[in-house]
Amino acid sequence: MKTLVRNGTVVTATDQYRADVLIVDDVIDSIGRQLSVDADHEIDASGCYVLPGGVDVHTHMDMPFGGTVSSDDFETGTIAAAHGGTTTLIDFAIQFKGQAMRQALDTWYGKADGKAAVDYGFHMIVTDLPDAGLEDMSSMVRDGVTSFKLFMAYPGVLMVDDATIFKALVQAGKIGALICMHAENGSVIDLMVRRALAEGKTAPKYHALTRPASMEGEATGRAIALAELAGAPVYIVHLSCNDALQKVREARDRGLPAYAETCPQYLFLSDENYQAEGFEGAKYVMTPPLREKWHQDRLWAGLQKDHLQVVSTDHCPFCFKEQKELGREDFSKIPNGAPGVETRLSLLYNGGVRTGRISLNRFVQLVATAPAKMFGLFPRKGTIAAGSDADLVIFDPEAEVTLSAKTHHMRVDYNPYEGMRVKGAARVVLSQGKVVVENGQFRGRAGAGRLLKRSTFGGF
Ligand code: URP
Ligand code: ZN
Ligand code: ZN
Repeated sequence: MKTLVRNGTVVTATDQYRADVLIVDDVIDSIGRQLSVDADHEIDASGCYVLPGGVDVHTHMDMPFGGTVSSDDFETGTIAAAHGGTTTLIDFAIQFKGQAMRQALDTWYGKADGKAAVDYGFHMIVTDLPDAGLEDMSSMVRDGVTSFKLFMAYPGVLMVDDATIFKALVQAGKIGALICMHAENGSVIDLMVRRALAEGKTAPKYHALTRPASMEGEATGRAIALAELAGAPVYIVHLSCNDALQKVREARDRGLPAYAETCPQYLFLSDENYQAEGFEGAKYVMTPPLREKWHQDRLWAGLQKDHLQVVSTDHCPFCFKEQKELGREDFSKIPNGAPGVETRLSLLYNGGVRTGRISLNRFVQLVATAPAKMFGLFPRKGTIAAGSDADLVIFDPEAEVTLSAKTHHMRVDYNPYEGMRVKGAARVVLSQGKVVVENGQFRGRAGAGRLLKRSTFGGF
């Protein structure tokens, strides 16, 4: 099967040029000017950018959390991702305390198998690491699960102590794995939460007030110090504030392999959202919380100067009705997380490229190339090159879209950006060489997504 994408402007992390892209089956075959090929199918990309499919390395589909389960499963979540131009996800399998990682991975394989509409892989969340578990980490890496997430927050649920973190970092360094760190000081935050509740402070805004930026900064610094001692790289997830960014920047200035992602919510939303009427602030209860607006400029500077390397979503949706409502009387019972897998590219293009904050190449690097490189998927994913997977986004820079729960495809009853007008959207999306989204219609198939085995961390 030959598909020719004609007349578009190919954009990668480094280049931008007019060219046709020939796809043979599921792989990019060749790129050239006015290719003369007898294709089975032609797509006219005139006026559009041809981008590598987005790679979102931080999603939580079908995840049990906070007394409920995230509302997108691998079918609805990957279809929503495709609508937004994301064609590869790395989700998180959770090893619950006392469980073997193998068993946890099988559970998550079962959740995605036959449902995912685009290609996907997994990180492993480690909550328990007896010495025997170190061999489990090696076995995960052999299976292509080459990154592990550890939590410095959520005591009694997901949090691990510093010794466990250090142990995991040492092992990761030996086996070429990357440790992803949720960096917040969970013990102090837990105390602040209990004190707030005891004082009758139960509204959603207290979620943010009990998780100060300084405690994200503290944990980020500690994570980096432990990684330095272990001689291992570390990747800070969902970095939300200047306090944490400073720690990453200082480490990078010293030449340490410290990396970090931020997410659109920290670039476009702020703690003002917690002032929404009634219980509406619960829609923005996520961890880390939204910060004061001034942090946004610092994060943009971090993206410009490569102190931050990736923009992921931390897509973890819970419906306002019945799920967020679990915390009506107690903010600590509001399930933490927000939707975003569908809106990442449009938001970052509109708010980053169109405003001149980042270049078009940097945009591609942040949403596709860097995440693919960081997590062992490059050059199969994250670029447009002969031999790469034919995951492409025909991106219309002039398309105007109003973000809304009425029109989005994520299975969640609100959109954090409700009513926001953005310019720039995916017009046609291809995964494995096949059109999966065309003019807002899903044309793919649930179950067509392949499980990806990722390479070890090779530096970045
Ligand atoms: O609020 C969030 N971020 N929920 C998802 C879990 C996590 O910590 O990434
Ligand atoms: Zn986290
Ligand atoms: Zn997350």
